[in-house]
Amino acid sequence: MASKEPTVTTPDREAAAGTMDDETPKGERSLRLAIIVGSTRQGRFAPTVAAWFADRAQQRGDLTIDVIDLAGSGLPDVLGSTPVPEVAAMSARLSAADAFVVVTPEYNHSFPAALKNAIDWHYSEWRTKPVGFVSYGGASGGLRAVEQLRQVFAELHTVTVRDTVSFHGGARQFGSDGVPLEPARPNAAAGRMLDQLAWWARALREARTARPYAA
Ligand SMILES: Cc1cc2nc3c(=O)[nH]c(=O)nc-3n(C[C@H](O)[C@H](O)[C@H](O)COP(=O)(O)O)c2cc1C
Repeated sequence: MASKEPTVTTPDREAAAGTMDDETPKGERSLRLAIIVGSTRQGRFAPTVAAWFADRAQQRGDLTIDVIDLAGSGLPDVLGSTPVPEVAAMSARLSAADAFVVVTPEYNHSFPAALKNAIDWHYSEWRTKPVGFVSYGGASGGLRAVEQLRQVFAELHTVTVRDTVSFHGGARQFGSDGVPLEPARPNAAAGRMLDQLAWWARALREARTARPYAA
């Protein structure tokens, strides 16, 4: 089936449209969720998974969503210290986020090199924030990629949430409309993961405001 490009909703556009905060307690800014699309492969399936998940997250009403697609992001694949506009642009979007969800396939029992490159280009932007995962792949549903990403994100002072969303057999699980053929299980999994992510995002945002982090 054809891949569907995810809708990008930036915090600024959302605020300007006046559509924020339906489920957010009065006086509290809505949580900003950055969804990172981890595959940049030609002909990738990633946009379909990311668009489905972004739609689920949007429906909650308490999240402002920014979809960060690594394809076309212009991040150099060689790390360096010379200022690069594309890196600065992504840094600003990651810094603005209260929480992250990484959408990742599994490549050779791990995660894509482009995703690791994007993670490594940044440092403090990840710190003291929660990370959730949506994975897909063959028999393992991308779970081996997720378990390895937990190790990487621990180094960056993040909290990875326990529950994940995974699709075994990837593309075969989705219809041509970009929606899972059997939606009950992935919808429930997405709900649980987002509940946990939002809890951590609120708790850590409050903690960051209350006291400096002991890095
Ligand atoms: C280089 C490469 C390695 C892969 N290795 C695995 C693997 O180890 N385990 C698995 O379950 N699927 C593996 N797959 C299948 C992918 O997870 C699956 O095709 C997925 O849809 C790819 O995501 P993408 O199309 O968004 O890039 C591999 C695919 C590629 C291209």
